[in-house]
Amino acid sequence: TKIVFIAHNGSERVIEAEDGKTVMQAAVDNLIPGIVGDCGGCCTCATCHAYVDERWQGKLKPPSEDEAMMLEGALEVKANSRLTCQIQIGPELDGLILRTPERQF
Ligand code: FES
Repeated sequence: TKIVFIAHNGSERVIEAEDGKTVMQAAVDNLIPGIVGDCGGCCTCATCHAYVDERWQGKLKPPSEDEAMMLEGALEVKANSRLTCQIQIGPELDGLILRTPERQF
């Protein structure tokens, strides 16, 4: 499944991610700048924060209560902010576009 990461400086990286993994795991495996994933995906650090492209916003499952709560602690949260460790990769996300923030903490 193809996932596109656009860094805050506009540089773009496209990765081929394994289905079943989380977007955070795939980003860390592929050394995507801007995704840290400090807690390893337990939804307790918010350093996997990224912005979902508008075209994709409606296609993702809405954030869980835990995710919404953790997101409040992330930097520069916007309406399209998500924690990427809570997004499970599957074929329906092929071509997903995410923008990574300048910093996570
Ligand atoms: Fe820690 Fe997502 S990796 S909240």
